[in-house]
Amino acid sequence: MKISILTLFPEMFEGFISTSIIKRAIDQGIVEVEMINFRNYTLDKHKHVDDTPYGGGAGMLLTLQPLVDCLKDIKTKDSHVVLLTPTGKVYNQAIAKEYTQYNHLILICGHYEGFDERIKYYIDEEVSIGDYVLTGGELAAQIISDSVIRLLNGTIKEDSYQDDSFQTGLLEYPQYTKPEVYDGHKVPEVLLSGHHENIRKWRLYKSLEKTYKVRPDLLENKELTQEMKEMLEDVKKN
Ligand code: 6GU
Repeated sequence: MKISILTLFPEMFEGFISTSIIKRAIDQGIVEVEMINFRNYTLDKHKHVDDTPYGGGAGMLLTLQPLVDCLKDIKTKDSHVVLLTPTGKVYNQAIAKEYTQYNHLILICGHYEGFDERIKYYIDEEVSIGDYVLTGGELAAQIISDSVIRLLNGTIKEDSYQDDSFQTGLLEYPQYTKPEVYDGHKVPEVLLSGHHENIRKWRLYKSLEKTYKVRPDLLENKELTQEMKEMLEDVKKN
């Protein structure tokens, strides 16, 4: 897979591509990540890429010419073009999974107040990473790239994300590592028992309990097994 990131600040991605799991995925050829500074495409003699909004108002908007010329240069039949903006649909794990299916993902990072609305004729969709406003799309591009790359075959062992929060539609159960007792706080007995079926049930119960307490919205559209329904009734009682 190839991810092309259109940005005025490619240096913001240096740490991202040179660290840990993302670096390894790139080194192994699982993914190629390229940053393209679309300022290089501007025809403006002062190299400007933004201008004032028609109708007045604060801030500057990115002009169409550099972005559209850059897209025309790099886009192929295989490209999926995503505009990063706080007014897009909210990104989630299901979209991350969908994105793993594209050979070429293009992420456009805005900066300043936003884009000229007519950019919509040149993109496939608009995506936001949540209900807050960032100074630019660069952090969103890193979040989306990270969540997609870790799902690509070979990046991490599949077991590592089988039980992930959101992968299952539930928040993940709590986990513990050594020592057995830390500062008087004990690891739950069942996890030391070696009884796999009891451990499975405990984890499922804890996932349901955590989801019910913190993210009840996730349970609204979720298909529950009979076992889950009974556990959830118990969670609600306690
Ligand atoms: Cl994708 N961009 C900006 N600038 N702010 C955001 C965002 C994106 N998603 C949430 N807030």
